[in-house]
Amino acid sequence: KIIILDFGSQYTQLIARAVREANVYCEIIPYYQQFDINETLKGVILSGSPFSVNEEKAPVVAISDFNKALPILGICYGAQLTAKTYGGVVNKSNKREYGRATLILKNEQDALFDGVPQQSQVWMSHSDSIQQLPPHFEVLATTESIPVAAFKQSNHSPNPLYGLQFHPEVFHSTEGKKIIRNFLVNICGCSQNWTPANFVQESIAQLKKQIGDRKVIMALSGGVDSTVAATLISKAIGDHLYCLFVDNGVLRKNEYEQVLHTYQQLHLNVVGIDAKEHFYTKLAGKTDPEEKRKIIGNTFIEIFDREAKRMNDIGMLGQGTIYPDVIESVSVHGPSQTIKSHHNVGGLPDYMQLELVEPLRFLFKDEVRKVGIELGIPAELINRHPFPGPGLAIRILGEVTEEKVHLLQQADAIFIDALRNANLYSKVWQAGAILLPVKSVGVMGDERTYEYTLALRAVTSVDGMTADWAHLPYDFLASVSNAIINQVKGINRVVYDISSKPPATIEWE
Ligand code: XMP
Repeated sequence: KIIILDFGSQYTQLIARAVREANVYCEIIPYYQQFDINETLKGVILSGSPFSVNEEKAPVVAISDFNKALPILGICYGAQLTAKTYGGVVNKSNKREYGRATLILKNEQDALFDGVPQQSQVWMSHSDSIQQLPPHFEVLATTESIPVAAFKQSNHSPNPLYGLQFHPEVFHSTEGKKIIRNFLVNICGCSQNWTPANFVQESIAQLKKQIGDRKVIMALSGGVDSTVAATLISKAIGDHLYCLFVDNGVLRKNEYEQVLHTYQQLHLNVVGIDAKEHFYTKLAGKTDPEEKRKIIGNTFIEIFDREAKRMNDIGMLGQGTIYPDVIESVSVHGPSQTIKSHHNVGGLPDYMQLELVEPLRFLFKDEVRKVGIELGIPAELINRHPFPGPGLAIRILGEVTEEKVHLLQQADAIFIDALRNANLYSKVWQAGAILLPVKSVGVMGDERTYEYTLALRAVTSVDGMTADWAHLPYDFLASVSNAIINQVKGINRVVYDISSKPPATIEWE
């Protein structure tokens, strides 16, 4: 395994993903956290940082201590900190260097640059740069604007010590993945055996050990994470896993039946709970978006709690928590600030003092999908768009009623089916329909209509944090609009949302 020490760079997770993509397991820990040095640990990567190494409060680690036992790769701030630690000079450059640059290798023979052409594009993002390397360090590469773009310690160290001023982990560093792979394999001697198949095997063995003969309860959402987590747990303990899938009345058309069917095919021990009426009653008359969210969350907990009490001797709680929710982010405001921690992401109350079982705690989303495929979960479920917990309730602006849910379910299904049929479903990150509390006049045949307006929303995104509206073809939008107005009685006008996030959000509420 590899440890990535995080100094608060926005790219730290990308380093971890690049390492994982090379089939090597790694963990991100805050730079100040202790870690065990043992035979499974093969190397350390030091991340970038918003700090300057010359700032008084700049975060530091004992690089030379680590290097006694392990190879080290410093990236950006990590490289500057390495240079400074050993007696080099790091200064503010007169030009800040952001964006593309051409990396020019000075030592093409070095194992770090195996297979990398003499010149290649890299991505820079720094305002300090290394003016002078410490004694016994060697420049491995430069760019047009900086003398030290890559270096290594050239002698006397028991273990290799490298630094890169550029960011090999970002997409725009075209040889970056290769350089990271070279560090892992050629320098650290990692074996590339972190694969979905190995993960499944090891994780089942570990779950068996962790759980023993206790019983686990788990709520399923129909989404990828909870399904993959439950399938893994179920492979480990079979029917000692009790799953609940609740129909909260604001799922998509036929979703409850279809998802339950899939769960049964996966041999999950699952109970479906039809709580539609209960949710509708609680939601009646409520129009405030945050209040609607809270009601749905609390009602869910109430039902979960009731069902959990009904089952005997439940000992543990299963959750589909994934790695991005777990990583403690290093504060950019200074090491003394409170560190965010996201525990119990599933939103269940603290009084449920059950030990957690979270088999996906160390996986990124793309790895969860690969593990899901490995487990034989249908591709349709694995590749589903994200769908918010409060469901259609936050896509019905204003009060939620059964009748409005029914209207929206039909319109949404027409839109989503059309996306699939036109091979557009996988090209957008998320899509859905929103029922607006606006009625307008229309004409159908000889008759005047006065009916609801529906908004269609489709976005492209990587992680939902930022998003652009999807530029769907006009012909496609025309046919969806036609189909909805003709088939869904109660909607006589369709509009397309062309706002990006920010400043808009993906959901309307
Ligand atoms: P926004 O609207 O904030 O949405 O741009 C970003 C992503 O988060 C989803 N979302 C939610 N998911 N509970 C959830 O589980 C919620 O209350 C919630 N609100 C938004 C949204 O669907 C999108 O994928």
